[in-house]
Amino acid sequence: MVDTQEKEMIFEPILEDGVFRFDCLSDDRNAAFPSLSFTNTKLRDTPILIHKVPSYIPTFQSLLGQQIVKLELPVGTSFYGTGEVSGQLERTGKRVFTWNTDAFGYGPETTSLYQSHPWVLAVLPNGEALGVLADTTRLCEIDLRTESRIQFTASASFPVITFGPFPSPTDVLISLSHAIGTVFMPPKWSLGYHQCRYSYMSDKRVREIATTFREKGIPCDVIWMDIDYMDGFRCFTFDKERFSDPKSLVKDLHHNGFKAIWMLDPGIKHEEGFFVYESGSKNNVWIQKADGTPFVGDVWPGPCVFPDFTQSKVRSWWANLVKDFISNGVDGIWNDMNEPAVFKVVSKTMPENNIHKGDEELGGCQSHSHYHNVYGLLMARSTFEGMKLADKNKRPFVLTRAGFISSQRYAATWTGDNLSTWEHLHMSISMVLQLGLSGQPVSGPDIGGFSGNATPKLFGRWMGLGAMFPFCRGHADADSLDHEPWSFGEECEEVCRLALKRRYRLILHIYTLFYMAHTRGTPVATPAFFADSKDNSLRTLESCFLLGPVLVSASTLQDQGSDRQLLLPKGIWLSFDFDDLHPDLPSLYLRGGSIIPLGPPIQHIGESNPSDDLTLLIALDENGRAEGSLFEDDGDGYGFTEGQYLLTHYIAELQSSVVTVRISKTEGLWKRPDRRLHVQLLIGEGAMLDTWGIDGELLQIVMPSEFEITKLTNTSKENRRTRLESVMPIPEMDVASGQKGTVSKIPVELKSGDWSLKVIPWFGGRIVSMAHLPSG
Ligand code: GLC
Repeated sequence: MVDTQEKEMIFEPILEDGVFRFDCLSDDRNAAFPSLSFTNTKLRDTPILIHKVPSYIPTFQSLLGQQIVKLELPVGTSFYGTGEVSGQLERTGKRVFTWNTDAFGYGPETTSLYQSHPWVLAVLPNGEALGVLADTTRLCEIDLRTESRIQFTASASFPVITFGPFPSPTDVLISLSHAIGTVFMPPKWSLGYHQCRYSYMSDKRVREIATTFREKGIPCDVIWMDIDYMDGFRCFTFDKERFSDPKSLVKDLHHNGFKAIWMLDPGIKHEEGFFVYESGSKNNVWIQKADGTPFVGDVWPGPCVFPDFTQSKVRSWWANLVKDFISNGVDGIWNDMNEPAVFKVVSKTMPENNIHKGDEELGGCQSHSHYHNVYGLLMARSTFEGMKLADKNKRPFVLTRAGFISSQRYAATWTGDNLSTWEHLHMSISMVLQLGLSGQPVSGPDIGGFSGNATPKLFGRWMGLGAMFPFCRGHADADSLDHEPWSFGEECEEVCRLALKRRYRLILHIYTLFYMAHTRGTPVATPAFFADSKDNSLRTLESCFLLGPVLVSASTLQDQGSDRQLLLPKGIWLSFDFDDLHPDLPSLYLRGGSIIPLGPPIQHIGESNPSDDLTLLIALDENGRAEGSLFEDDGDGYGFTEGQYLLTHYIAELQSSVVTVRISKTEGLWKRPDRRLHVQLLIGEGAMLDTWGIDGELLQIVMPSEFEITKLTNTSKENRRTRLESVMPIPEMDVASGQKGTVSKIPVELKSGDWSLKVIPWFGGRIVSMAHLPSG
């Protein structure tokens, strides 16, 4: 490829109707590396028989070994995707460099974070959507600075794949999932609340945290062990004193309804006698320097060597270590620092000329620059496989910091080391959505912010919002103050309790969304414009998002609650709550035409039973109809792939003033549990009509007169107003340090008239002592 002129790329249809692969020339087509994004590279490399031409054809240019690809789209096109990115939701004007980076304390302008998704989702002016993938593992510039133009630049040769235009952005994501696979099926417990900290320093502290959740009635499913559980940061070991008996710790946690997740980093301490180092050296698993000796770089334990996950023999070596590790009572694994991060070097990673002896099917022996962006993906894959080896009847749960487009097959992710600021609270919405629009539906931020100290208000607001994200975990840095839900005073604690109770009431709905995502490739959390991709005014909304038909509208402004006026997508959107209305919690709306399942308020997933009362929340559309589904199974394992589940489609129809609710279709071998069914029909302003019956039987609600309905909605409106006025708002306490966004546990002295008050701002402004000031 020596051509510097701009030319049209050559194309062939692949995968399915509407998907095309583009290459510069046929030589480039043959020279392309195997795909690490497709589940099967053959799908990308084998044309299909369809006589169609693409609607949009990219052009290419070759310059100094770089392939520059441009795709011009109609004026008024909006851009999304590009993976894990900070800053605005709509990406026009932005540039990203795919290069997995340990980005501690990133800001809105940072151009490389922890993951790489060389992928753009373009929403055309007419509401149709087109996805574009630059199928390269290498450093790739995604340049969206020119309006309505996508430009990819990376070293040659790489194919570009377009998906669509399809009628909606969801159709594009479904088609993408046919190429890169869908999300792993999460164990149901992993959709509960997760509590983490860098680090809970002893098993005693872990037990204390777990007990406090139960004592305070704050729902939680998982406690996380960060690096300090290890013996000197040596992976696969436990500190002999502070975590002397992990098995009995986990036994106690399980007894209390908690799961335990433990961290494993890729950096293995370079130390003779350490069993992982010895075994890895014997099996020749380490990434090598250009001279063929193992590369040694500093991470937490000091000098480390790094497994070369591009070789299947190394992945199975690691998977076997994971398998043994699981026997200590490990329910999930957290892969961190796997960009891979290396300390004390400007590049924050290993030299680009390090050597990976990759298997042929992945691209063979290549330098680190070729495999850098897939290191985290391959580590997560190997960890996932290790967990499966340990117990094939359990669903692995892996959280990975680094990733590549397609890592959703193996792992969830979080948005890395964010800050305890309002700006980061705001960005967390777009970041989660953007990952979802790039094929990764399981993500969430460190609730409360990782670095720095949240204020009570910021923390409460973040928990309210975080409780609605697909992955919901609180975490904080080693030198941050405590960031548990009860650490910020009573008002904040109550908001956290309400927020998490909501999540657990909605868990049946969220789990159903994940089942659909896993089996069909549909997204879980999406921007508001997914409700109406033709409506331009929705395309830049950043403070609200959809969980299927549920619209979550939050305020990320310090001095404004979520009870403000909101721009809703067109059509019917009926607000609802769980008698938990609060200005620091997001407002919730159900789209007309939808039914969602709700469960009872539980403290952890293990508390639920198939025979629990089931609630259906219903919002009728303009034609008096609504529908929705509920997926149920064991919540773990793979029985559902052999029919051991129940998928119920419910339908509600209004005819001559009677709303009939019934089952329209069921799937799966499971017998319907004997249980009561509570139907709640929303009628506006949070008001609802309700009735009880038996699930599986037909239920009816007689619609009252217009006059009655108006009366009910007016009363509800009034009640909601009264509630909002009467709830205690979370105070914004930052008097201690005088710094915005920081609180202290040290009491501060305030003077009021003749009195001196000692107050702990961190503790909800609790007064700890009062003294009368000497006169004069
Ligand atoms: C990294 C992770 C963070 C973790 C810390 C210590 O900074 O991003 O979540 O707590 O390492 O392991």
